[in-house]
Amino acid sequence: TIDQRKYLVNGELKTWNGNTTEVFSTISSTEEYKPTLLGSIPDMGEPEALDALDSAMKAFNRGQGVWPTMHVKDRIECMENFVRQMKTKRDIIVKLLMWEIGKSLPDSQKEFDRTVDYINDTIEEYKELDRNSAKFQKHDGVYAHIRRGPLGVVLCLGPYNYPLNETFALLIPAIIMGNTTVFKPAKHGVLLITPLLEAFQSSFPKGVVNILFGRGRAVAAPIMQTGKVDVLALIGNSKSANALQEQHPKSNRLRLVLGLEAKNPAIILPDADLDLTIDECIAGTLSFNGQRCTALKVIYVHEDVKDEFLKRYSQRVDELKFANPWEEGVKLTPLPEPGKPAYIQELIDDAIEKGAKIKNKKGGKQFDNYIWPAVLYPVSKDMRVYQEEQFGPVVPVVSFSDIEEPLNDMAESNYGQQVSLFGKDVYALSPLIDTLVNLVCRVNLNSSCQRGPDVYPFTGRKDSAQATLSVHDALRSFSIRTFVAFKDN
Ligand code: G3H
Repeated sequence: TIDQRKYLVNGELKTWNGNTTEVFSTISSTEEYKPTLLGSIPDMGEPEALDALDSAMKAFNRGQGVWPTMHVKDRIECMENFVRQMKTKRDIIVKLLMWEIGKSLPDSQKEFDRTVDYINDTIEEYKELDRNSAKFQKHDGVYAHIRRGPLGVVLCLGPYNYPLNETFALLIPAIIMGNTTVFKPAKHGVLLITPLLEAFQSSFPKGVVNILFGRGRAVAAPIMQTGKVDVLALIGNSKSANALQEQHPKSNRLRLVLGLEAKNPAIILPDADLDLTIDECIAGTLSFNGQRCTALKVIYVHEDVKDEFLKRYSQRVDELKFANPWEEGVKLTPLPEPGKPAYIQELIDDAIEKGAKIKNKKGGKQFDNYIWPAVLYPVSKDMRVYQEEQFGPVVPVVSFSDIEEPLNDMAESNYGQQVSLFGKDVYALSPLIDTLVNLVCRVNLNSSCQRGPDVYPFTGRKDSAQATLSVHDALRSFSIRTFVAFKDN
């Protein structure tokens, strides 16, 4: 087990002597199911949170600190040093990803490698940004040297489903742009930050990165209440984001960089290639048990192909392999949240009560801390599984005869991240695609929804996001354009 007592504040790796919280894995290491104790983390509170904030504020020093004024080349050197050290921790972090959040071995390796790539790409993008800002512009006799400056102190909170990749997709661009940060890891996927504490400490000047452990409301809320946070950077749910935002006494001054919920639909047209559509829908709905903000969370299938789709898709769901994350060919893995099966069961019960049926034989079967993915049909708007972001193994299916039906539902939805459109002639359907891009931010033709490649804009309309998080856009989300102007005289 890992007795994690270190935390990083003001460049010092301090040792915590107070209360701790145990961290469990829902993966059982015994034949009879029993969660495994992985270790413990500090249960910090307001004094430590305010110390961390103070440290970040001193390091920023109202824009006059060492970090925000440091030369680009030196900042890059710090980041390169960090990524060099991070690469040596691959094995332990991959192992912790499997145990802490139940992510399969290939997906855990992918998350680690993708994060390293993300950092390297961010460094390259930052160099490019710097090269461009070195060019002078001239308009109406006024020269300008336009650059990008940091915003201040960033409070950074990441999600459990991508505790490395998505968290670092906030933290790394925030740091490299010259901001200083307070970072609290997610509840699950927290121990895997431990092997990186020294790398953070030794790579950046004191106070640039401060790392705390504990419950969000115990550490993040007091930080927000001071009104000293300039940017709230969070990937997670809007309930937490709104609650934190409300704590800030001058929230009109707060910049938000938020990646939130989504209810991405698949729309299956009558001429869709069903082999391909089913493969993509399996991956889209159930990769990492559906615990992705980009997952397909509702399937709209045309009446003409509904029966065949439901039969073949349901059968495929039952053929998926459930096992521990390191086993060969595993597709479904233990759920990190202990309450998730009960929640999914509630959604299933509600849907059945209102007229839906489970279409696959194993659907809803519970064992250990798992519930087998249930394919529900016919799903209607009054059902919770239609309205809520399930973020887990249950798939609502709706049939339609007129494309206006899914389009109207999407227009009414509170979310607007992505859609997947399946049909042989989708490339010829440009008016439909033009409508879809006005409802969401990414239209996937004959493929499931996903965030990557990380150079593409990752954002959403309505309650799905605030700001954009591609490698390119994130640097802009964490900075402001500034310039020096002079006249030709
Ligand atoms: O939870 C949302 C993630 O950004 C999804 O990323 O599409 O690469 O799985 P992904």
